[in-house]
Amino acid sequence: MSTLHILWGSQSGNAQNLANVIGNSLEDEFQVEVHDMGALSPEMISSISTLLLVTSTYGDGEAPDNASEWYSFLKFGEELNLSHLSYAVIGLGDTYYPHFCQASKDFDEFLSKHGARSLINRLDCDLYYEEQYPEWVEELKSVLKVDFPV
Ligand SMILES: Cc1cc2nc3c(=O)[nH]c(=O)nc-3n(C[C@H](O)[C@H](O)[C@H](O)COP(=O)(O)O)c2cc1C
Repeated sequence: MSTLHILWGSQSGNAQNLANVIGNSLEDEFQVEVHDMGALSPEMISSISTLLLVTSTYGDGEAPDNASEWYSFLKFGEELNLSHLSYAVIGLGDTYYPHFCQASKDFDEFLSKHGARSLINRLDCDLYYEEQYPEWVEELKSVLKVDFPV
């Protein structure tokens, strides 16, 4: 069975926790690895076939510090071909800010621009993300059951 790679970009821990919680809820049915984006070279994306990206937004609509290398790599990688990759993105943010969930929106756009295939519509969560993510994760699970390389 191939591996679902869950990568998290987080400034103060929420997205990190969420990535681990989602990882735990999927690991009975799928082979899962959870990674800090800051600890994994973005070039590794060429060897990932299924990706779940969990990121918050910080600053003025920016990616968290530990996700900045991946952000630049995907934003500026003109020659990147990600047609081997299926992905899902879930964002954490706060509608109080003008650039609500900008980092998750950007990651989704970059991945798609390079030819990766979206498995499910991105979910951008507000501060009450704990009420929002479970339904989305259930939908993701259903999609993965029929669309996960063995
Ligand atoms: C200084 C600061 C800046 C933030 N900027 C944004 C922003 O531009 N857009 C947004 O949607 N949320 C913003 N947020 C909200 C965070 O994304 C939200 O609290 C999230 O749950 C944090 O997740 P994390 O702990 O994984 O970093 C900001 C929060 C702080 C404290």
